[in-house]
Amino acid sequence: EKGAYPYYMLKEVSEQPAVMRRLLRRYTKGASLQFDVKLLAALKDADQLYIVAAGTSYHAGLVGQALFEQLAGVRTTAFLASEFAYHQPLLSQKPFFIFLTQSGETADLRQVLVQINAKNLPSLTMTNVLTATLAREATFALDLAAGPEIAVASTKAYTAQVALEALLAKALGAAKGQAAAKAFDVEHELSLAATGQQALIDQQSAIHELAKEMFATTRNAFFIGRGTDYYVSLESALKLKEISYVQAEGFAAGELKHGTIALIEPGTPVVAIITDPTTAARTRSNAEEVEARGGKVLRIVAESLAEPGDDLIVPALNPLLSPLLTIVPAQLLAYYTSLDRGYDVDRPRNLAKSVTVE
Ligand code: M6R
Repeated sequence: EKGAYPYYMLKEVSEQPAVMRRLLRRYTKGASLQFDVKLLAALKDADQLYIVAAGTSYHAGLVGQALFEQLAGVRTTAFLASEFAYHQPLLSQKPFFIFLTQSGETADLRQVLVQINAKNLPSLTMTNVLTATLAREATFALDLAAGPEIAVASTKAYTAQVALEALLAKALGAAKGQAAAKAFDVEHELSLAATGQQALIDQQSAIHELAKEMFATTRNAFFIGRGTDYYVSLESALKLKEISYVQAEGFAAGELKHGTIALIEPGTPVVAIITDPTTAARTRSNAEEVEARGGKVLRIVAESLAEPGDDLIVPALNPLLSPLLTIVPAQLLAYYTSLDRGYDVDRPRNLAKSVTVE
């Protein structure tokens, strides 16, 4: 039940800090991580991880790609299930498949799972519904523990997927003796993420004002970032487009001058997401290029990189996990834009919660 919340989406956005804490309780015991030893052994044996997903879950998979490569030192690539099913890349010698899916019923993913099961290849489904088809048919299954997600726009499942990928990448990296995994205190980072998310949720009125300033009447919008900020830009654009029908595009900030800057006109809204110290200056200069052409920029910036004039500050967190924070204002911007335009936030036109046909 949505209780005091006007829409499930706002309730589910607000539940994200509790989901982070629940995942910590579920997958940690004292200082150790709790994963099936057989799952860890199968992952350790793999020479490449193939993350297969659709929509928001694919965007969480892109973050997972960075997490598994950097913490566990294993080559990892995220694929769109609908592409992978019919245009399969060359597989490595020992592939391991990770299916990321809130519902566990997405037909595009099932198509891939049937193919890889026919080849007897190992797989893991991370899902919010452990009784779902994709959980039952994969070799292993892990619970996202996000609780039922009712709004068509996925929110808490995204952050749960990123957090669970971080826990598993840390466990795998530690099992492999990776120095990067040892140095990464996943429990500390996830509790910081929970506190940081709450601080952002508490700023929802200010974010509502920013939504009005940026998106009240616009027909298009852009989100830019680099690294994990790029991945969260893709998810931010998807949120805005699916519930407010604004034509939104997320892309790598460095690509701006390779085409998209041609679309910037006076007043065009651009959200710049800046949480990585290695690329912050470059993304800032991309934002200035937008402003020089009259575009309207909203800067979402990590506390440690903040400068006067930045619009929204997100608390400090390892840049690998910053999507856990930066997505929260983006979800709220989309929510309020949809609300102010008078749409049914939870049930956008033409969309189903679970896409069970290819
Ligand atoms: O249940 P799944 O995670 O497999 O669903 C994947 C997509 O259909 C889903 O994320 C969709 O893109 C949402 N509407 C996004 O908000």
